[in-house]
Amino acid sequence: MVERVALAIRDLAVQFESEQGVVRALDGVSFDLHAGRTLGIVGESGCGKSVTARSILRLVDRPGRITAGRMLLDPGAEGEVDLAALDPESRRMRGVRGGRIGLIFQEPMTALSVHYTIGNQIIEAVRQHADCSAAEARNRAVDLLRDVGIPRPETRLRAYPFELSGGLRQRVGIAMALAGDPDIVIADEPTTALDVTTQAQILDLLRRLQAEKQIALMLITHDMGVIAEMADEVAVMYLGRIVEFAPVADVFSAPRHPYARALLRAVPSILAAPRQRLSTIGGAVPHPGSRPSGCPFHPRCAEIIGDICRQQIPAPVEPGRAGASCFLTEPGRERAA
Ligand SMILES: Nc1ncnc2c1ncn2[C@@H]1O[C@H](COP(=O)(O)OP(=O)(O)OP(=O)(O)O)[C@@H](O)[C@H]1O
Ligand SMILES: [Mg+2]
Repeated sequence: MVERVALAIRDLAVQFESEQGVVRALDGVSFDLHAGRTLGIVGESGCGKSVTARSILRLVDRPGRITAGRMLLDPGAEGEVDLAALDPESRRMRGVRGGRIGLIFQEPMTALSVHYTIGNQIIEAVRQHADCSAAEARNRAVDLLRDVGIPRPETRLRAYPFELSGGLRQRVGIAMALAGDPDIVIADEPTTALDVTTQAQILDLLRRLQAEKQIALMLITHDMGVIAEMADEVAVMYLGRIVEFAPVADVFSAPRHPYARALLRAVPSILAAPRQRLSTIGGAVPHPGSRPSGCPFHPRCAEIIGDICRQQIPAPVEPGRAGASCFLTEPGRERAA
């Protein structure tokens, strides 16, 4: 059975315009989020992961602007709506934010206020999306805290965020994201700020909640280990483009794009000899404002085939189909094994 597509992103382009010039933060991004599945989005700093998340929620601040593309919620259904066409401040969009799409931040304090108790904040978030009495909202808040594994939820409602450990705070952040009962959740580096033990617990929690609620999860991380553990499919981003999309097992066993191969080589292996130098990717990610000609990865690519890479932009990956945006993968040009 193919799961329902909850959100279809097509050819999304986002620019930041300033006196210094135009930064093409996203340059034709397409992918689908499916109910009950996890799409991992991975790539180095600055490749556009967070801008993708913020665009979907229409939270990109000026001077950022969506210049092209569609973001179809419930594509093909009667109530299909293009989030790219909505006014970010509209009632409809405010309902989508939290009510259909929940956002989990790297640093939970981004979503929480220091001035109010956890109870106040979750109850408020529940009431924003459901027409219910104060008592019902309170019960729902207790259920949410219990769902995310917070012990003694009734007592915790009276706590302030700063009274909690980082791990508990991220659980509250997840409860906040789920307060409006969204069916799509975007988690932007949800465990990056946590120690490894807590990280494993939070990933377990996300996996359990996702399965129980059949959530379409978009999980942003720069950590290939997190991807291996969590994702069904992976989108590898580079300079505002998806350069590879594939089922997670493919990406690890037979990555198609030289950048994906380089990312994997940069993962420390428990099999490596002690103190062996990590293989890293040569050069730094160019600033999106000074994008290279041709394939954006060509200046760092160890497998460059020639002028075609310097002069022409490879076709983007087709949404829903495993592939890479690379001349090497074109028929007749497969890399010699
Ligand atoms: N407010 C802004 N003004 C100008 N440019 C911006 C702004 N926000 C993002 N950008 C540009 O968009 C690009 C993508 O940024 P984004 O935050 O999506 O990266 P990321 O992949 O989330 O990186 P990280 O792993 O560091 O979180 C950046 O390189 C930056 O140049
Ligand atoms: Mg980011």
